Formats: sequence, structure tokens, C-alpha cells
Amino acid sequence: MSVHKEIRKVTTHRLSEMKLRSEKISMLTSYDYSMAKLVNEAGIDVILVGDSASNVMAGFETTLPITLDHMIYHGASVVRAVNRALVVVDLPFGTYQGNSRNALNSAIRIMKETAADSVKLEGGAEVIDSVNRILSAGIPVMGHLGLMPQSIHKFGTYTVRAKEEEEAEKLLSDAKLLEEAGCFAIVLEKIPAKLGAKVAKELKIPVIGIGAGNGVDGQVLVIHDLLGITQQFSPRFLRRYHNLAAEIKGAVGTYISDVKSGEFPNEKEQY
Ligand code: KIV
Repeated sequence: MSVHKEIRKVTTHRLSEMKLRSEKISMLTSYDYSMAKLVNEAGIDVILVGDSASNVMAGFETTLPITLDHMIYHGASVVRAVNRALVVVDLPFGTYQGNSRNALNSAIRIMKETAADSVKLEGGAEVIDSVNRILSAGIPVMGHLGLMPQSIHKFGTYTVRAKEEEEAEKLLSDAKLLEEAGCFAIVLEKIPAKLGAKVAKELKIPVIGIGAGNGVDGQVLVIHDLLGITQQFSPRFLRRYHNLAAEIKGAVGTYISDVKSGEFPNEKEQY
């Protein structure tokens, strides 16, 4: 008998089983091999290679500048580290809107060049042709509604979305449209908790929230926010589990003074 416990990969099917038995789904972003390895080993269900890489990895103000080539680089790095979590890669701005053939080509590039399990894209009715075309190639798609950072220039702010009835109704009908099309899950970002719970109740597919309250089927956060590496970003929905910024600066500060004083390297640390 083998002493090694077999690792069972998380699949889209397993996520729907989790929803059926009311087991919450845990999801976090990662963008590189080393972080993804730790996050996977900690037992996360889903790793999102988010286009938030544009902000936290590349230092851009918005998610708009990141390219498909960049996302493929991040996606492939993450996939090499992961043996359990389901890996989702974001389709970046400009690679799927308004042209379903382009959308399919972009999704195919992600699947071929990263070996990820699925793609995610923002929008409902406006992008449904792209969603259908990608799904027709057998590529699993995760939807994303509510605050959609790729549309920041349309709205002008990152405030809570769908507070008014009309926008809430559109969000619910978009969510149903994505489910009917065949998406395996949906992310809801920064919307009232009541609406998040309603969407999760009315949909059979898992609904994962970020600032969408506790009535959804799972939660997602940006790993740099959770670990306290990012410092300026403090929305109400964010719980920081660590203050890694202080720890990193402390360690680097000690290293600098050890180098300056000649204390590093010591006798045992040289050949
Ligand atoms: O890019 C990202 O990190 C995301 C999450 C905020 C859901 O889309």
C-alpha cells in the first residue's frame, strides 16, 4: 500500500459538487511559480491568474495595459507549480470584446501555451457571442459581473455596483445568461451582499464573491492584499491576514545593516 496520499485535482465538476453540498469554495490569485506553489500546497481550491497582475506585478494604475503575452507568461508560470487547484487565467482587455473569433483565438492561445484549466472574462450580454464561441471549443469559461475593472473608464470609479434596482436586475439577467450559455462559475465583484446571495440562490453554478457578501458559494481575494504586501488598497471587503510588507522591509533592513557592518557573510557562510 502506498504511503503517499493521492492528490485529487480540482475540476469544474468538483466545484459544482461543492456547491451542491454547500461546501464553500476558496479562491486566490497568483501570478508566479513560487507563490502559486505555496498557495496550491496550502490547499486552495481555485487559483486565478488575474489581470490584476497589471496592478500588483507590473505597477500599472488599471488592468487595461496588460497583454495576452503577459497573461500567458504569468499563467504558464503558475501552472508549472500547481498539482491540485483548478487554474483560471483572465482574458485581458481587448482580446475578447466585440469579436468572437478574436476571443476564441485568445482563449485557445491561453489553453495551449499555459496548460491552464479555464479562462475568465468580464461582462454579460455584451460579450455573450464571445462566451458561446469559446465554450464551443470545449474551453471552460468563468464569468465576471458587478465591478468590472476593465470597464473603469466607462464608470469612472471603483465604487459598489448594482445598488440601484435597474442595474441589479441587469446583473441577475446577465448571470442567468452566462449560466445558460454554459459557464461553469461566476465571479461577482463589489455588489450588495443581498444581491450576491440572491444570484447564488437562483443559479445552479457556483458564484464566487469578492466584496459580494457571505451568501455566495465561495470567496476570492488578491493574494498580495490578503498577505498585506499591498499597502494603499483598503476596501471594506478586504481582510488582511498578515503584514508581510512590514516583515519584508524588516528583513531587508537587517540584511542591509549586516552588509554595511561587514557582519554578513560570517565565517560559516563562506568557502
Ligand atoms: O484580476 C483579478 O484579480 C480578479 C479578481 C479581483 C476576481 O478578477
